Amino acid sequence: MPVTFKLNGKSTTVDVAADTPLLWVLRDTLNYKGTKFGCGVGQCGACTVQRAGVAVRSCQLKISTLEGADIKTIEGLSADGTHALQKAWEELDVPQCGYCQAGQIMSAASLLDKNPNPSDADIDAAMNGNICRCATYIRIRAGIKRAAEIKRGAGAQPASGGKPEGRPEDAPADGRPRSLFETAR
Ligand code: FES
Ligand code: FES
Repeated sequence: MPVTFKLNGKSTTVDVAADTPLLWVLRDTLNYKGTKFGCGVGQCGACTVQRAGVAVRSCQLKISTLEGADIKTIEGLSADGTHALQKAWEELDVPQCGYCQAGQIMSAASLLDKNPNPSDADIDAAMNGNICRCATYIRIRAGIKRAAEIKRGAGAQPASGGKPEGRPEDAPADGRPRSLFETAR
């Protein structure tokens, strides 16, 4: 069925089976590969995009429900990679393998749009559904706080504490990946 929606600010029409998830449309039909497939069942957050500014799981959105919708993917977050989150992610070297990070950033962008100065608890609540197999949760939290500073126009020196310690320290002692932000405190 033909569906027309706004994708990263541009009117976009696709003609695919009505039950095709948005994630498949983005990656396979429109060749927007930034949004990642992780679990396919709404549990990992790798496929997170924004719908009208709200973080949503694109693997769970049938294209038939998106006529007229306003969708933003990681490709549309900024024209040149200068969104505050992208700057902070680069400054603090947040990603490890990177697979989950587009979804993390899209969830974080929704958080910062409605809460310009999130606490640890705010971040944990907003980001809890975004899983990172590399356990970068500590750096993600620091990155969100740094991005909040950048958005508020803070100076070059991060008041948020700067870059967290190196990657080995991010991993739990038992070697198992953390699944929740709360456990990364
Ligand atoms: S791929 Fe959509 S939540 Fe995991
Ligand atoms: S950085 Fe590797 S899964 Fe998150």
